[in-house]
Amino acid sequence: MKGLIAIVTGAGSGIGEAVCRSLADSGVKLILAGRRIDKLTEVASSLVTQTVTVGCDVREPQDVEHLVQESVNQFGQIDIVVNNAGIFRPTPIDETDVSDWDNVMSTNLRSAFLLSRAAWPFLKKSQGQIINISSIAATRGFSGGAAYCASKFGMNGLSAVLAIEGKPHGIRVLTLCPAQIDTPIWQSMDVEDALSKMMRPEQIGELVRTMLAVPRNIDLEPIVVTNFISPFEVN
Ligand SMILES: NC(=O)c1ccc[n+]([C@@H]2O[C@H](COP(=O)([O-])OP(=O)(O)OC[C@H]3O[C@@H](n4cnc5c(N)ncnc54)[C@H](OP(=O)(O)O)[C@@H]3O)[C@@H](O)[C@H]2O)c1
Repeated sequence: MKGLIAIVTGAGSGIGEAVCRSLADSGVKLILAGRRIDKLTEVASSLVTQTVTVGCDVREPQDVEHLVQESVNQFGQIDIVVNNAGIFRPTPIDETDVSDWDNVMSTNLRSAFLLSRAAWPFLKKSQGQIINISSIAATRGFSGGAAYCASKFGMNGLSAVLAIEGKPHGIRVLTLCPAQIDTPIWQSMDVEDALSKMMRPEQIGELVRTMLAVPRNIDLEPIVVTNFISPFEVN
């Protein structure tokens, strides 16, 4: 992995931050993307690798094009794209506004389409890899998850197509579908007691690094990882 160039979206917190840390430890050079520059700078300054931070709203095509252009300007190539940025705002269907729906879909799903498409020519050159951070919500429904589940089911569909279209060009597309992980995504929810029982973001960062390092003659189907005991299980 040493010397490879990776773009990580949502790199300023949670899983994105953890992915940056594990990739940096393997000598990967990083482009950290997200909206809060202060968070990106904080993470970047603690990494032992070459980094660039790029302010980017992944919902916006121009921002995403700029992210890719900036990555190529700085490092000359792109080897890995980690589509990680996402939001989780569970609401019952009859309380889900069209604007909420659109926001979740464009942050969680359109973003992955935009960045994969923009990076595609460079991934063709490098025979690179995309890893999509999906969710267990891509495999089952839950109450309040209309937009979130739809976005993550959609992400797995997008991944499946990119995996097929990428193969002739040597591009490998991986998908990770984790259950609950203790990250700031849960901040606005009343789940304080469950947080300590959730998987750690560092564990997911390490898993992403391991998946990317799997020999290139091996393909991986979407990987679902769950907590051994559900954090919401009442003892
Ligand atoms: N934590 C879990 O239990 C869990 C489980 C399964 C899957 N996931 C998935 O893991 C991914 C990362 O989430 P997390 O748990 O690490 O939560 P998090 O700490 O809240 O991270 C989400 C990141 O996405 C970025 N982001 C949100 N909207 C964005 C936008 N419009 N443009 C650019 N960046 C944006 C945020 O940065 P800015 O606000 O600075 O832009 C933030 O750094 C998400 O796709 C989530 O669905 C999480």
